[in-house]
Order: sequence, then structure tokens, then C-alpha cells
Amino acid sequence: MASRLGVGVLILAALLGSATAQAGYGEYTAAAQGMAPEGAPTSETPVPPAQTPPPPAPGLRYGFYSRSCPPAEYFIREVVAKAIRKNPGVGAGLIRMAFHDCFVQGCDASVLLDATPANPRPEKLGPPNFPSLRGFEVIDAAKALLENFCPGVVSCADVVQFAARDAAFFLSGYKVSYRLPAGRFDGRVSLENETLAFLPPPSFNLTELLDSFRAKGLDVDDLVVLSGAHTIGRAHCSSFSDRISTPPSNMDPGLATVLRGQCPANLNFTNDPTVVQDIVTPNRLDNQYYKNVLRRKVLFNSDAALLTSRQTASKVVENAVIRGRWERKFARAMVKMSLIEIKNAGNGEIRKNCRVVN
Ligand code: HEM
Repeated sequence: MASRLGVGVLILAALLGSATAQAGYGEYTAAAQGMAPEGAPTSETPVPPAQTPPPPAPGLRYGFYSRSCPPAEYFIREVVAKAIRKNPGVGAGLIRMAFHDCFVQGCDASVLLDATPANPRPEKLGPPNFPSLRGFEVIDAAKALLENFCPGVVSCADVVQFAARDAAFFLSGYKVSYRLPAGRFDGRVSLENETLAFLPPPSFNLTELLDSFRAKGLDVDDLVVLSGAHTIGRAHCSSFSDRISTPPSNMDPGLATVLRGQCPANLNFTNDPTVVQDIVTPNRLDNQYYKNVLRRKVLFNSDAALLTSRQTASKVVENAVIRGRWERKFARAMVKMSLIEIKNAGNGEIRKNCRVVN
């Protein structure tokens, strides 16, 4: 009881503190109608200020390609910039891709492998990835450029993590900026059934979410901070339909009504529209997600679950109200996530084509 009261007080204080920043659906409409994202890359993209990241995993180094392929990071950043200029949603897809790659078989580009007669059901076809995961063609374009200049040098696993880093940089208006150690090897194993085993579904409660993050060496702070990625991109109606049908869930009734208008009652694989995740600043990687969580204007049970313990609720409040805090923490957590179960020359390879093993 005391703890419930404590969470309530925290939330109330945060809501009062940020009341002036609240935006209604009018702003959502303006944002959705083609307002350029704050971080839209230009030809004069500034050099990011370096953050101090945690020490890299064995075998990984900062500036890994500085001798073997000096323009590698620059090429990837340019390809990502171009893709985001065309469609900011692809940037969201790339950030999600980094997560989905790392949680299944480690950060080894296993999520990129296409189906083959020898392996007809790779990760890519798992329900968390198909048909929703996007950005594969951006990775292909970057890898093609790299293979042209330095064949056989840059791993697809590194391309995935650099691409997510760069997408975060642009979509945050250059605020999320970090150096990334590299030297990951690409895996040769990719199994559809491992996606459901390791990627948490949107229906998970806090205990289940924490268990799935702990299984990958991530802690409660990482869970709260990385969930903030739901400040950009889209979701298919089927991912949250349980929360907008009757009886009403703990979602804000106004948002539930809007979503009911956007999602057909008879959802199926061919009739499953998408909606934006953050109704206030849909294309901006910012801390708006935490303000949405506090107002119960989030899509998934896993988002709402962050208010179900005092510890996570107070982290939500901190990220919502302390300027610049979430951006710094997100950068560090993305680096930490990128170090999960790294492969080496013994159990990996540098793929020539990210979609097939050599
Ligand atoms: C905490 C557990 C998480 C759950 C249960 C979860 C679940 C989901 C679901 C269901 C979607 C919508 C997919 C669709 O219907 O199209 C989604 C989208 C997204 N997720 Fe998560 N997610 C989690 C954590 C993360 C993390 C750690 C990241 C990255 C750091 C992330 C980044 C994203 C992004 C950027 C999108 C939008 C993708 C797009 O627009 O293409 N999520 N997530």
C-alpha cells in the first residue's frame, strides 16, 4: 500500500512538473503530416561529441576499422542518413533490428539471414520479426558499399550496430551520440523458434520483462532506458489490440478511442494497419516516451508495466523530467546491448553478403 502510494506521488509530481509540455492530438496531427524530424540529416551533419562508453567486450575495439577500412563508419553513416531522409521510419526499424539481433544468438547478424533450402525457417521469419522488422535494404546498401572498398573486412554484425547508432544520432537531432566498439563476427546459425524464446512480447509484465533482459545480462535500468526507443516508429494494431478491446485496459481512454478508430475490429494478417508509437513526437528520438508512460498513453502492456513497481516508476519519472538524462543513458545502454554474446573467428565469419552464410 505504502509503495503504491509512493509511486502515485512520484507520478503526480512528474505530471505537474511537465504539464506545460503536454501536447494534444492536434500536435500529433501536425507532426504526422510531414513535419521534418528534428534530426533529419543534412549534408552538413556535425561530428558527434564522443561519450565515455563502458569498456568493450573481448575482441572488440573502438576504431576497429581505422586501419583495415578507414571509411567504414563514415560509409555506414552516409547510407543511414540517406535512408532516413527518405523515410524516418526506417531509422526506427534499424534501432529495433539491433535489439532483435542481439537478443537471439547474440549480436551476430543472425537476424539478417534469408531462408534457404538448408535453413527454411531463419529468425527473420519469426513472429517478432515478420512482417514487422524493417531496414534490411539499408544494411544491404551499406554492406555493398563496404564490400566494394574493403572486401571481406567489415562484419554484418558491426554494420547492424553502427546503423542503429547512426539512426539514433539522426533521429535524436544529434543528441544521442556515442562511440561504438567493433570487431563482431557474423554467426552461421539462425532459427525462427529462438525468436519467441528470447524476444519479449508486448504482453509481458514487469517480472517477465526483467527476466528476459537479465537472461541477456541487462538490468532493470537497461530495461527502462531501452524501452524509451518506443518514442519512435510504428506498431501494428495486432501488437496492442488486446488493450483497446473491451473490457477497457489501463490505457488512457482518449488514446484507446483514437486507436479504436485506426484499427479494424477484424484484424488478420492482411488487414493489420500500423499506428505511430509516440503520438506527440512520432519521429523524434526523445524522452517523450516517459511522459507518455506517465499519462498512460502508450501502446503495449510492456510499456505500461514500467509503472508497476516503485523502482521502475521512479526511473520513468527521472527520464521524463531531467533534461538530457535519458539521451545519455540510452547511448550507454545501446553500447551495453551491442556487446551481448559476441562471436569470434572461432565460431563466426565475415559474411560477404549479409543475407547468406559464406
Ligand atoms: C522491453 C521489451 C520490448 C517489447 C515487448 C517490445 C515490443 C515491440 C513491439 C510489439 C513493437 C511493434 C512491432 C509492430 O507491431 O510493428 C515494437 C516496436 C519497436 N521497438 Fe520494441 N520492444 C521492446 C524493447 C525494445 C528495445 C530494447 C528497443 C531498442 C533499443 C526497441 C525498439 C523498437 C522500435 C524502434 C520500434 C518501432 C519499429 C518500427 O517502427 O519499425 N524495442 N517493439
